[in-house]
Amino acid sequence: MSFLEIKDITKRFGTQTVLNGINAVIESGELVCILGPSGCGKTTLLRIIAGLESAESGKIFIDGKDCTFLPPSKRNFGIVFQSYALFPHMTVMENVMFGLKQKKGMTVVEKENKALDMLRLVDISDHKDKYPRQLSGGQQQRTALARAVALSPSYLLLDEPLSALDAKVRSRLRTEIKSIQRKLGITTIMVTHDQEEALTMADKIIVMNNAVVEQIGRPHAVYNRPATSFVANFIGTMNFYVRGKEKRGIRPEKIKIVDCSQPYDITALVQDIEFKGAFTRVHSLVPEENTGISIDLPSDYADSMKLRRETTIFLQIPDEHTIRYSMCSV
Ligand SMILES: Nc1ncnc2c1ncn2[C@@H]1O[C@H](COP(=O)(O)OP(=O)(O)OP(=O)(O)O)[C@@H](O)[C@H]1O
Ligand SMILES: [Mg+2]
Repeated sequence: MSFLEIKDITKRFGTQTVLNGINAVIESGELVCILGPSGCGKTTLLRIIAGLESAESGKIFIDGKDCTFLPPSKRNFGIVFQSYALFPHMTVMENVMFGLKQKKGMTVVEKENKALDMLRLVDISDHKDKYPRQLSGGQQQRTALARAVALSPSYLLLDEPLSALDAKVRSRLRTEIKSIQRKLGITTIMVTHDQEEALTMADKIIVMNNAVVEQIGRPHAVYNRPATSFVANFIGTMNFYVRGKEKRGIRPEKIKIVDCSQPYDITALVQDIEFKGAFTRVHSLVPEENTGISIDLPSDYADSMKLRRETTIFLQIPDEHTIRYSMCSV
């Protein structure tokens, strides 16, 4: 049986529909990312799952039970927000002890040991007597995570927990959160607008746009077989072109630049060459179709080709990597 079922949820604020018939199923132990641009309804959906917001229609089932009208205090989740939301007048240890204090059936020593375990789990033990203002952003989010999991909740809700952190810390915490989540086996729903974060962390991604779900799938599936042109463009880059009555898409890294003596599908004119570190993106134009095509090459290889602007390149577009869309579905 699935752990959480979101059934046909619709939510309006005034005249604005911010969630329009959302359906999703989340399995026990999964890390699911809700991914989409700003304002598409991610936080609202997370708040409805938590019971912090009510929907106009639709239902939420947790562990097979209809929880649509259950108050948040009865739902047994842990939550971490984008802004750290720690109690400023409490130390790291006191913050983590806060929820545990109310917990019945545990002695004070047991509670303290549990809190210390959690601090070790998120690697913040060395800072347990500091106040939030004495911590870095990453350390504050570790503390918030320890506080959220200390009560052994049955699921964890994370709303952009890493977005306020710099790139290095963010990327380290991604790996750590994923490993903590695996270790605890806790079902986790994380909101993000960062496609890389979703691709690296999620078992399953729910891609949202404009109050609707565009696609639900594993990271590989969402990247390799995006269901709509929105998904194709939001997660990575996709070249679109038309063949007959069909709209087709191909990822920049799947196109090959070949010598004119080899078989090729299309010729294009180099417009620009963009160095991106490990790879180089070649922007080109197919003049007769007035279509831009981007090609990604490993940078060393791109350098060795000595490409120049306005030169003609010969492109192979492997059939097995093209995605076909009917004109009306996108
Ligand atoms: N309490 C509210 N009252 C009125 N409108 C709201 C309220 N909360 C959210 N909205 C509107 O609902 C829409 C969805 O908001 P939501 O916070 O769910 O978006 P989001 O996808 O989480 O965006 P972001 O990535 O910027 O956090 C937005 O247009 C927002 O302005
Ligand atoms: Mg949000």
